[in-house]
Amino acid sequence: AATLHHEWEISYQFKSPDCVRKLAVTINGQTPGPTIRATQGNTVVVRVSNSLLTENVAIHWHGIRQIGTPWADGTEGVTQCPILPGDVFTYTFAVDHPGTYMYHAHYGMQRSAGLNGMIVVAAAPGGRAAEPFAYDGEHDILLNDWWHNSTQEQATGLASVPIRWVGEPHSLLINGRGNFNCSAAAAGTCDATLTECAAPVFDVVPGKTYRFRIASLTSLSALNFEIEGHPMTVVEADGHYVKPFVVDSLSIYSGETYSVLIKADQDPNRNYWLASNVVGRQPGTPTGTAVLSYPGAPRSPPPTPPPAGRAWNDTMYRFRQSVATVAHPAHVEPPPPRADRTILLLNTQNKIDGRIKWALNNVSFRLPHTPYLVAMKRGLAGAFDQRPPPEKYAHQTYDIYAKPPNPNATSSDGLYRLRFGSVVDVVLQNANMLDDNRSETHPWHLHGHDFWVLGYGIGRFDPAVHPATYNLRDPILKNTVAVHPYGWTALRFKADNPGVWAFHCHIEAHFFMGMGIVFEEGIERVTELPPEIMGCGKAKGGH
Ligand code: C2O
Ligand code: CU
Repeated sequence: AATLHHEWEISYQFKSPDCVRKLAVTINGQTPGPTIRATQGNTVVVRVSNSLLTENVAIHWHGIRQIGTPWADGTEGVTQCPILPGDVFTYTFAVDHPGTYMYHAHYGMQRSAGLNGMIVVAAAPGGRAAEPFAYDGEHDILLNDWWHNSTQEQATGLASVPIRWVGEPHSLLINGRGNFNCSAAAAGTCDATLTECAAPVFDVVPGKTYRFRIASLTSLSALNFEIEGHPMTVVEADGHYVKPFVVDSLSIYSGETYSVLIKADQDPNRNYWLASNVVGRQPGTPTGTAVLSYPGAPRSPPPTPPPAGRAWNDTMYRFRQSVATVAHPAHVEPPPPRADRTILLLNTQNKIDGRIKWALNNVSFRLPHTPYLVAMKRGLAGAFDQRPPPEKYAHQTYDIYAKPPNPNATSSDGLYRLRFGSVVDVVLQNANMLDDNRSETHPWHLHGHDFWVLGYGIGRFDPAVHPATYNLRDPILKNTVAVHPYGWTALRFKADNPGVWAFHCHIEAHFFMGMGIVFEEGIERVTELPPEIMGCGKAKGGH
């Protein structure tokens, strides 16, 4: 099988993705970075040199399972030490499954500074015929949100007392471009005539069918994406074929990817908007736009205003899409019929020493200074808390509609050790935050695996009742899934990938505030670790 080599230099550059100048973390001078295009079965090699001068880096390959290469997952503190300024680290991994994936920084809140991009894995030669749908052309869309203040300022604000919340994004980006209103920007920082911030244009030919691969790496925002006048047929989610269903607007959370098909069957003498809008939180950000262009139309913006999207608080619209996303009938991979272990995780907002945190079963996650993979493989005592975090909460009595009765949490870097090969169910329960009448959507992402999505509900999960309602017939496999406001989501996976794997909310600020856990499985099966991952904490020296 072919090996694809990439050389990436990571550096800060002045960029104006939404016409406003800002320092961005770039790959070879670009943000977003280049799309990695590969074919199923390829090996991808990315040689990363850190030219940030004053900042570490690590890059995660989101949706790639890293079977046999757990040290290449790119998760700082979990699978590797960070890459220091001036250092080089080479990621080598197989892309064993076709689909739409992504990559992004996984160090502090660095992802939101611009280090992100897409990975497109085509079906193996001849495999396209095996795809359960047909199309004439393909376009890629990477959705993002963007702030004008720095990542460091955001992170410091989140850790301050009182908290300085990141606030709503200044712009929404499509393929790294947005359009801030320069009259609202500081003098001399904004230039609306830059091509760097001109709306992206996607060409279509009348009568043809297009596959749009749509990926979201927002820091915060849940999005509603639509292509004006063109209903979308959803055919892929996180690298798995979906039983097709049609939407006018697609709900997409950070960490998710979808493929949709559209037919270019509208009036070819005009153009149409692609529009991205914030949902799930009261929006304070203008619509992100791009243009769908027919050949007969003038090279000018569409004559209509951009679609405003669904009502931001129409939770049931988003819930219904979650439930509708099941496996394509010809591509069902049935889940194991039962779990060996069930972990119930109550997601709450809490306080530690006056700081606002997120916690699971009242434990807020913090990353250890020595990566777990190295600490466990080398038996480095004292590298992290050896006590396992709780895997239950008082589910019969906890009132998810009330503020946490005891907002005080503890923080820990303990992890869950899973028996190799066992089947694990995780139920994520959402609840009221520290403010009255407030619960948000959290997109949870699992490293190293795809999981079956067995069920969703709104309200309190009851382990005596709800498992009987699970979809064991045709559940979709995904790597990121939404937990809706006051809702629960149940998922199942097989702990059969030796390594240490993060599982966390994909909202950058939430993970930073402790909304995550870590699983270990089959550590004894992990082969010799590359010494390059060991430059920090108790791992120093590599021995
Ligand atoms: Cu895309 Cu741990 O994240
Ligand atoms: Cu969250």
